[in-house]
Amino acid sequence: MSKANTANTARAATAQIIDGRMIAALVKSDVRLLIERFKLETGASPSLAMVLVGDDPASQSYVRMKERDCEQVGIIARDYRLPADTSQEHLNALIDELNADAGVSGILVQMPLPAGLDEEAVVERIDPAKDVDGFHPTNLGRLLRGQPGMRPCTPAGVMVLLDQYGIELEGKHAVVVGRSNIVGKPQAFLLLERNATVTICHSRTRDLPAVCRQADVLVAAVGRPQMIDASYIKPGATVIDVGINRTEDGTLVGDVDFESALSVAGAITPVPGGVGVMTRACLMRNTIDACVAQEAARKSARLMK
Ligand code: GUN
Repeated sequence: MSKANTANTARAATAQIIDGRMIAALVKSDVRLLIERFKLETGASPSLAMVLVGDDPASQSYVRMKERDCEQVGIIARDYRLPADTSQEHLNALIDELNADAGVSGILVQMPLPAGLDEEAVVERIDPAKDVDGFHPTNLGRLLRGQPGMRPCTPAGVMVLLDQYGIELEGKHAVVVGRSNIVGKPQAFLLLERNATVTICHSRTRDLPAVCRQADVLVAAVGRPQMIDASYIKPGATVIDVGINRTEDGTLVGDVDFESALSVAGAITPVPGGVGVMTRACLMRNTIDACVAQEAARKSARLMK
């Protein structure tokens, strides 16, 4: 063996970096084309109503980024900023108004809501046809039953990344760490739909590292900075980091200890530039999908008259 080859063998393996920014740009470019065609065919434009209650800086920043995405793909962003002391009745009335407005394709109420407002009631009040977050029980139920419907954006974005990087799921063991209604549970069902064998882990799971080490695909959605290190990862596994955590010095980190995981995983998403950008790209896709479905429903209602 040549000297150069020996050096190569001795060097620790490095995982392939899954480039969320690149794939999100592809998704948004598809969405932009779909929207252009829709506008030409119907003369109408998709629109997304974004409701922000209170002045949480992180939520303000998320909404700003979503507005920028809308602008890039040709969705009209309608902003509704309400004070933190908004009553449930007032918020309900706004949602009712947006549900009834044919010019609104999608409705997003930025979470978390200020204390005193009922998030569950808000999620259930949004018309499932306009629920571009995919949080409504009807949409989650449809996912569980394998029916078409709005899929939650983060888990849907993870599936796009896995597909674009050609990561096989059929018969593979996927371990999802986290059981939230917006990521962990829907993620598990999307993976199951693709014939993966799925394990959902949570804070009471015994010997979490050992369970995670069985994963061919490991999805970390726990909300604990850098909790998942190399000792949780089977060599060659695909590691998807859904976490977005800010450390004390302001740095953005995921739920995975990226540096440690890099030498064991086969492929891995970075933070930032991994799953987060895909969430917003899938929100854009859900909004045009909702708009097209609403237009088709209106057309068939006109024909029935
Ligand atoms: N807050 C943090 N992430 C999200 C999201 O995906 N949708 C909404 N509505 N609120 C959020």
